Amino acid sequence: MRAAILGATKGMGRSLARAMAERGDTICLLGRNRGDLERSAIDLSVRGATGEVASVLCDLEDPETFGDVMETARESLGGLDAVIVTAGVFATQDELEADPELAERLLRIDFSNTVLFCEAAKKALLSEGGGTLCAFSSVAGERGRKPVILYGAAKAGLTHYLEGLDHKHRTNGLRVVTVKPGFVKTSMTAGLQPPPFAGEPNAVARRVLRAIDRGRPVVYAPAPWRLVMAVIRALPRAIMRRINF
Ligand SMILES: NC(=O)c1ccc[n+]([C@@H]2O[C@H](COP(=O)([O-])OP(=O)(O)OC[C@H]3O[C@@H](n4cnc5c(N)ncnc54)[C@H](OP(=O)(O)O)[C@@H]3O)[C@@H](O)[C@H]2O)c1
Repeated sequence: MRAAILGATKGMGRSLARAMAERGDTICLLGRNRGDLERSAIDLSVRGATGEVASVLCDLEDPETFGDVMETARESLGGLDAVIVTAGVFATQDELEADPELAERLLRIDFSNTVLFCEAAKKALLSEGGGTLCAFSSVAGERGRKPVILYGAAKAGLTHYLEGLDHKHRTNGLRVVTVKPGFVKTSMTAGLQPPPFAGEPNAVARRVLRAIDRGRPVVYAPAPWRLVMAVIRALPRAIMRRINF
């Protein structure tokens, strides 16, 4: 598989890129820090990625570059089978309420600019006759919840966008895979108290890679979060108001 991955320098993106390298996929890394990209490219080459691991600078804060980024990635891979977007930012509800600029930045990165990046990826994949667009949303987007009102709103918007894209383009050969992680121990969640069913990035990566290979439209990871969120979705508002989940 020839895949471009945005956000593979850390966390779940790094685990996923490593799992892909280990089975011999061809990878182009997209990210905002040249040094991190170069170090990750060496790591993936050593792990078995096919051909040279290319890297292209891409900052989710610069939407005007997304078209060129995808074109450069496609050229360096000699085609394109998949685009994976794991990049994203998190801040607590308290931090976001205290700092409107931080809130605006998170909403822009996690929602509008991620959507614009996916639009550029969609265009590149459709010009290849199709492929897989996999993006990391969150269980936080399933329901309005007190601890993640703003982050959850961004992820809810992203989830809806990805679902619409899948409905529209699956018959054109574009498979959209929405990943909904629960709590996973990465740099994003460092310092937070892990809840029950907290996951490890390597296990999540294996599960996501299976979903990409099968073209599953939605994957919860770790798996128990599918059931947890089914319960949460079913709770009446009166109960949601009383609990702090
Ligand atoms: N961990 C969880 O519990 C959890 C739960 C639900 C959903 N998620 C979602 O899953 C995805 C991966 O999370 P993670 O825990 O693996 O995160 P992570 O360890 O913090 O890694 C995030 C990645 O995003 C990149 N990134 C951040 N801002 C960027 C920007 N402006 N432009 C380009 N790249 C940028 C980071 O690159 P730099 O090194 O340059 O910062 C890093 O490679 C995210 O979308 C997150 O919202 C995570």
